[in-house]
Amino acid sequence: MAERRAERIAVFPGSFDPLTNGHIDIIQRGAKLFDRIIVAVLTNAAKTPLFSVEERMAVIRENFKSTPAVEADSFDGLVVDYARAKGASVLVRGLRGISDFEYELQMAMMNRHLDPSIETVFMMPAEQYTYVSSRLMKEVMALGGSITGLVPPAVEQRLGEMKKGRSGK
Ligand code: PNS
Repeated sequence: MAERRAERIAVFPGSFDPLTNGHIDIIQRGAKLFDRIIVAVLTNAAKTPLFSVEERMAVIRENFKSTPAVEADSFDGLVVDYARAKGASVLVRGLRGISDFEYELQMAMMNRHLDPSIETVFMMPAEQYTYVSSRLMKEVMALGGSITGLVPPAVEQRLGEMKKGRSGK
């Protein structure tokens, strides 16, 4: 009888404040490689987030409602502890370019030090998203620029509402 292969579970951790089309691209690539990919929103980030954890998870769920392999969750503490508790053996991270590399290498090596059984897998997004970051999306939107096509429509709408709320218009 054929042996059943264990489920391959990956965790894609991040702030996702907000989710961008670059993140979506990486999640889609991950969903092809792994049986399950858990998009895990960090809850205890030092910086003050624009979107609540619940809003961020809702955006992820909305975008992947037709992809059962993708789940949204939140975590705090060490990401390797969270991954282990979920039965995941892989951490997924996106690499847009050389500028991401230094920070990502440090995190990957620290996570390997903390738990050598968990492997970090890097994936490159499609070229059109190599300049897309959550920080730039918030800045451009706040200054009245267009981010259409770079974030999911729900994020664009929500950022627009927040801007209107702040300017009182
Ligand atoms: O999207 P971000 O903000 O670059 O994601 C950073 C994140 C959430 C992946 C990272 O800060 C993290 O894993 N934090 C959890 C705490 C932890 O495990 N730290 C040690 C590993 S570097």
